[in-house]
Amino acid sequence: MSAGVDAERFLEDLRALSRIGGRPDGGLDRLAWSQPDLEGRRFIGRRMREAGLEVRTDEALNVFGHLPASRGPWLLLGSHADSVPRGGRLDGAYGVIAALEVVRALTESSDPLAPRVEAVAFADEEGVRFGEGLLGSEALAGEVDVERLRSASDWEGVPALEVLRAAGVDLDRVPDAGRHMAEVSSYLELHIEQGPRLEEAGQDLAVVTGIVGVARRHVIIEGEQNHAGTTPFRLRRDAGRAAARAVAGLRELVQGVDGDAVANVGVIQFDPGGINVVPGRAEFDLEVRHLEATVVDRVLDAFEARLREICAEDGCRARTAVRSSVPPARMDPKLMEALERACRATGRPFTRIPSGAGHDAQVMARHVPSAMLFVPSKRGISHAPEEDTSDEHLVLGVETLLQAVRELL
Ligand code: HGY
Ligand code: MN
Ligand code: MN
Repeated sequence: MSAGVDAERFLEDLRALSRIGGRPDGGLDRLAWSQPDLEGRRFIGRRMREAGLEVRTDEALNVFGHLPASRGPWLLLGSHADSVPRGGRLDGAYGVIAALEVVRALTESSDPLAPRVEAVAFADEEGVRFGEGLLGSEALAGEVDVERLRSASDWEGVPALEVLRAAGVDLDRVPDAGRHMAEVSSYLELHIEQGPRLEEAGQDLAVVTGIVGVARRHVIIEGEQNHAGTTPFRLRRDAGRAAARAVAGLRELVQGVDGDAVANVGVIQFDPGGINVVPGRAEFDLEVRHLEATVVDRVLDAFEARLREICAEDGCRARTAVRSSVPPARMDPKLMEALERACRATGRPFTRIPSGAGHDAQVMARHVPSAMLFVPSKRGISHAPEEDTSDEHLVLGVETLLQAVRELL
């Protein structure tokens, strides 16, 4: 039996990466294109080099590592190294360090499969900064909308072009990153579930069946700015009230379309924002998720109809714009079977579940056979400092991924 995963080394590397952008509350600030993000990528590249791998950072800052002698096509293993603001230390980072550990384990045991595997740390999966994520995997897939980015600004209003240039990225060269996809044969991503289902069901592992589609819309509501003390309610055209009503009614509206659909509004902006001013304008971003694109569309249609009703009642006008739209993805049956055989070999309880979170695998699945493996999240919490998974589950996931690679190749 060739050597397995070095659990201590793996856990130490994960802890070390968690300290880059780490917060006193145990959370993580490694926002895409920020200094901590760049430092995290340098750390990953350094650990890949120390493992004897040839390291390449592409035009979108994706970091790849494979054995110098190997020539592809590679089975690509990885995830993303950026985080949401005040996020968790495992989302993305777990799959990146796990990929490195699998390549190291294969290399150290001189496994003939070692040259056929490559590790990757994708860039900007979270999409918090520019409103659309999966940028690193879309760059590899040759799908980045360069023109949209050229005119985009980040969430603080800084032009995306400036943010990227400061990070050392030349937007015009990002499409060149797509050359490498021809050398990728398939893709496996190990990730925390980021939900409560595995823990509730007492399952230690899950093979992912599919990944939800995520549609995001920007909503602007215009009313009439006015004095909050002297304007009777009957004369108000209160954009803030209309926005708050649309958001407050979201859960019932979405559940009325499909019980498995979800939606979220992370920020509502009232303008001008004074305590004594009736908001004349309100803005928010809405996202809707479901495994079927048709359900996402039905939810969006229902939302737009309800928004029009509310605005008619409140004397406001609304307009919505597409922010981003990522289609759902089915995972590859053959890769899923290899993952299931590897799960079965562990003797631990495992299941199959769809992913309610978006992942780089849903971009990769459009180009090469792709699949994902989940381990449980404690109390299902993610995108928060409390995000946590036991060391035992973390190591079990890496060992299962290694076994799946052996099954597959
Ligand atoms: O938003 C998501 O689902 C992913 O964590 N980026
Ligand atoms: Mn993730
Ligand atoms: Mn995430």
